[in-house]
Amino acid sequence: MKNVFRSQLSSLRQKKNLSQEALAQKLYVSRQSISKWEHGDSEPDIAKLISLSEILAVNLDFLISGQQSHDDLIVQLQHISKKFKQAVLKDINLTVYGRDRIALLGANGSGKTTIVNTIVGLVTPDSGKVSRFLDPHEDLSVLTQENMLIESLQVQEHVMLSAKIQNQFSPAFVTEMIAKFGLGEQARVTISQLSGGQRRKVALLISLLKPSKLLILDEPTVGMDLESIDFFWHYLDHVGGSVMTITHDFNQIDQYFTRVVLLKDGVIAADESVATIHSNNQTIEQWYRLANQ
Ligand SMILES: Nc1ncnc2c1ncn2[C@@H]1O[C@H](COP(=O)(O)OP(=O)(O)OP(=O)(O)O)[C@@H](O)[C@H]1O
Ligand SMILES: [Mg+2]
Repeated sequence: MKNVFRSQLSSLRQKKNLSQEALAQKLYVSRQSISKWEHGDSEPDIAKLISLSEILAVNLDFLISGQQSHDDLIVQLQHISKKFKQAVLKDINLTVYGRDRIALLGANGSGKTTIVNTIVGLVTPDSGKVSRFLDPHEDLSVLTQENMLIESLQVQEHVMLSAKIQNQFSPAFVTEMIAKFGLGEQARVTISQLSGGQRRKVALLISLLKPSKLLILDEPTVGMDLESIDFFWHYLDHVGGSVMTITHDFNQIDQYFTRVVLLKDGVIAADESVATIHSNNQTIEQWYRLANQ
């Protein structure tokens, strides 16, 4: 392991603009330890290796061997619990891998949004561990259940601003995305004057501006008309990376997802591959109705 690991460590550290001192502080070790690891004079223990993979936002295999595993770990939730007035999440264990397309299903109030907000970092769990093998600023795109839009901007201004923030700006790209999402006629309309479905389309468009390692969509199609919903699922089919979507849009999801996760009574009641569901001659909706009884 020594040769690959030591060069991986030093190059990944430099990519993250971390000095040996800064990395040492994050790991609660001395700077000399980091220096020894990078020279191959000693090796970190497994707990430090795991912490290193989180800090450097790579999976463990890649850190140690320099090779990307086929099933990259993206996010791992271990024994997560969260209580508001009542216990919502009781013992959630969920692992998201590269190229997963997960439909997160469950009744209203079952805690779906709480799970994705825990992954994103908007909710702090009461107990359990969230491991993110990605850089939340670079590799994560999120559409929250409530639209987060700046009411006073025009659609075009908003998309331009968001594209600039995400380093995706070009005038042609902005115009193209607005047209694709059927918002051409609203380009100069102020957000506060849009209909509910139009606002959802703007928020969705913004969440899809940049390529990401993990895309999280919390009820993306709510309020949208049939034509826009069809367009959206078709568009999503061409998005790379892992996708986790909360949806009640059962008409569309059989073609799109590879995995369904059912949340019930505060735990993951089922986690099934769509291929298995289909091989039992079921649709996801039929599977869901039976599993969620
Ligand atoms: N910030 C909060 N403060 C208090 N209670 C909350 C908070 N967020 C969520 N809850 C409660 O936790 C439970 C789960 O909410 P959550 O939004 O995660 O459900 P959901 O599965 O996303 O539901 P829906 O399908 O309606 O979006 C609900 O009973 C809700 O009232
Ligand atoms: Mg929700």
